[in-house]
Amino acid sequence: MEATFAGEIPTTIIIFGASGDLTRRKLVPALYDLAQGNFLPPSFAIMGTARSPYSDESFRTHLHEQLDLFSRAQPGEVPIWDEFAKQVFYHPLVYDNAESYKNLGERLAELEQEKAGNRLFYLATPPQLYETIIRQLGAAGLSTPRADGDGWSRIIVEKPFGHDLPSARTLNATLHQVFDEQQIYRIDHYLGKETVQDLIVFRFANTIFEPVWNRNYVDHVQITVAEQVDVASRAGYYDQAGVMRDMFQNHLLQLLTLTAMEPPAVFDPNALRDEKVKVLRALRAIPPDQVAQHTIRAQYRRYRDEEGVSPGSNTPTYALVRLHVDNWRWQGVPFYLRSGKALADKRSEIIIQFKCPPHTLFLAPEGSDLTPNRLALCIQPDEGMHLRFETKVPGAGMTMRSTDMEFHYGETFGAGTLPSAYERLLLDALHGDPSLFTRGDEIELAWSLIDPILEGWSQKDAPALVFYEAGTWGPPEADAFLAADHRRWHEGCRSQHEKRS
Ligand code: BG6
Repeated sequence: MEATFAGEIPTTIIIFGASGDLTRRKLVPALYDLAQGNFLPPSFAIMGTARSPYSDESFRTHLHEQLDLFSRAQPGEVPIWDEFAKQVFYHPLVYDNAESYKNLGERLAELEQEKAGNRLFYLATPPQLYETIIRQLGAAGLSTPRADGDGWSRIIVEKPFGHDLPSARTLNATLHQVFDEQQIYRIDHYLGKETVQDLIVFRFANTIFEPVWNRNYVDHVQITVAEQVDVASRAGYYDQAGVMRDMFQNHLLQLLTLTAMEPPAVFDPNALRDEKVKVLRALRAIPPDQVAQHTIRAQYRRYRDEEGVSPGSNTPTYALVRLHVDNWRWQGVPFYLRSGKALADKRSEIIIQFKCPPHTLFLAPEGSDLTPNRLALCIQPDEGMHLRFETKVPGAGMTMRSTDMEFHYGETFGAGTLPSAYERLLLDALHGDPSLFTRGDEIELAWSLIDPILEGWSQKDAPALVFYEAGTWGPPEADAFLAADHRRWHEGCRSQHEKRS
């Protein structure tokens, strides 16, 4: 990660919603790890704001209590907490009260010791507060850098960004009344994952894969984001959102665009995002009356008993969607996307399933077919990749067996070396690099693909919600769906050792 910052301009990250889980579990541990690696600007402060009545001291204690659980820092590393804590502050705030923002501005100016500082606002509150905060920041003059210096002002907006296309448009419009697009960083933490960025390097820094990355060689693509956790304490939010809004609109579509996009001419934020937008434009929308042919929605059996879930809720906790990218590269290649909660394992992977050789000379082991090549990009938890190919079984005859060539980040670069997604993204926002953040048009296009599916599912004659046991790989209907296409789900990132045991 880039380590240097020009000048000595004081830089403050102001977190709205600082008493919440995201701040405690992700944001502050990420900032702490960045501080530990000496990546933060020399004069840096964190200002937490929320309704809760913390003092600076009690806020520091609240954060410190669980830092060991959530930070990457290894026990025994030089403890920097005391130094770090001196840079952490708290300002109680009433979100819709102009006076609160005036006071916040005064506190920031105090911290900056009268120099015009850099300010990075982070919206980590419930999303219904975003517009109020954005307007208040504008009204208090906090969205523009002070006229007497070189400082900047930027804003990071957490997901969910809207709950459908109209609300995302409204939020974009409100943001644009107060901030320029260059100041806005819409976060999708999947883009901060090392393995997701490596997809770009893997595709465009190697010559051997790109020529076969198309309809001539690829049979289909599977994108799986499976979670073992259930909705736990987030049922209140989740029951309104469901898997489509929570995972597909953002993470899964981002993985798809990076897999399918053309190489940008240069590695620059707009060139990269232009290519992703072209994929979103090329995706064939599923009309509401065709959801039965292209999707499955399911719920794990005990979901309706979770605290905070409405009895009889039809919110899907699992979905499978088959999409097509209508362009020259991908015509006729289905992309199967699936994601769910309470599944058998936590596993995110992208599988590029190549076509079968046109003619086979050799014998596959009895009872099996010739296995076509398969590339599995393992996003998490065991980050790396597996390339499957056929080998000759030693001995007489020409019998084949499939084998995997595996690469694991942990083995090559050392365990614990991967920075968290939030570390990477916070640092990029501090450096002013929006490449790994979602642009306004991208978010709106993503919603325009998700909305018709949600509409289809809400119709009276919609295909029925199906059910699956927690701890399985989802509903049997998902296997039948692929079987009807003469395909099956693969677990491409399970190592051969795991598969044998
Ligand atoms: C979040 C979703 O965006 O991503 C959660 O709101 C989900 O429901 C989480 O659990 C998954 O992230 P990760 O990094 O654990 O795969």
